[in-house]
Amino acid sequence: MRILSGVQSSGQLHLGNYYGAIRQFVKLQDEGEALYFIANLHALTSLRDPVLARKYTFEIALAFLALGVDPRRATLFRHSDIPEVTELYWILGTVVPVSNLESAHSYRDKLENQKIQHPEFGLMAYPVLMAADILLYDTDVVPVGKDQVQHLEFARDWATKFNIAYSPGYDPAKKDSGGLLKLPTARVQAETAVVPGTNGGKMSKSQNNTITLFGTDKEVEKAIKGIKTDSAAVESPKPTENAPLYDLLKLMAPPGEWAAIDAEWKAGGKGYGHFKGKLIESYHATFDGPRKVYAELAANPDEVEKILQAGAQKAREYAAPVIKRVRAAVGL
Ligand code: ADP
Ligand code: TRP
Repeated sequence: MRILSGVQSSGQLHLGNYYGAIRQFVKLQDEGEALYFIANLHALTSLRDPVLARKYTFEIALAFLALGVDPRRATLFRHSDIPEVTELYWILGTVVPVSNLESAHSYRDKLENQKIQHPEFGLMAYPVLMAADILLYDTDVVPVGKDQVQHLEFARDWATKFNIAYSPGYDPAKKDSGGLLKLPTARVQAETAVVPGTNGGKMSKSQNNTITLFGTDKEVEKAIKGIKTDSAAVESPKPTENAPLYDLLKLMAPPGEWAAIDAEWKAGGKGYGHFKGKLIESYHATFDGPRKVYAELAANPDEVEKILQAGAQKAREYAAPVIKRVRAAVGL
């Protein structure tokens, strides 16, 4: 089984990225051939600062490694080190209906949330590059968050269109009828499908509601203390609906402590400050290990660069037969 996923290097990673994506990547690296990459070409659709672009790319690499992606078991690489991917992106684009791109959820959401009046081609074409990212390696499984599921459906649809156009005898109704491009499957982690942010909405770097994974202690504690709560009195039981603090505690409390915290929450007698203290403790219990590794790696950029170079070489080996097939099929 070949597993592939990527994370955009467009800002600081937060809890949503860990519980919604990276935690799964770490688990999956033992279940097949895993390829993980830093999507720095995608990041260019929202980032126009070359110094920051480089900084975030490096930070995502550190984060992958610190959170448990093991370069001996998984292939870790930078998007921009794989020229084959932009080639496939172009070729695939020749079978992509523009109407799919215009109506894509993530595209429509971005236009609306960020009040973009005159969108650029790159933003709209993003799902085509993402499909190329996946199809280039004969990927079987793509672990992603719920918001990415439509992109996976596009990848399957366009691969099917490509196969119909270019694979003699291909029949989309038949399984394993030997198309040039392999159809991937999304894997969404159900129990943590959406991690809430400090204001109760989906945690997202564009919403200013994140708790970061590798910010300073002070930043993290400030974010946790700012989690929105209602006006329930200290002595009353606390509601469990629309309560981001409760949801985050459930996610992060050490397994042996959750039952007691849950009981305290429902019993009343403790204020929200107490529970925020518990969340800060749980955060440190979970992430202090990775945070230490992150700092050590940050002090050894050459070592990280070596890992990325070796990863890119391996990824290009996986890509070589696919791009060769595709070039031959279309007549290049
Ligand atoms: P952001 O919304 O902060 O821009 P990205 O879109 O870069 O985050 O997401 C990277 C990965 O992390 C994706 O797989 C996405 O589904 C996952 N992810 C991001 N935020 C959350 C969240 N709040 N809950 C669950 N998963 C999330
Ligand atoms: N679009 C994904 C996100 O925003 C990141 C990504 C880019 C990706 N290419 C990918 C994820 C390929 C999985 C497979 O989270």
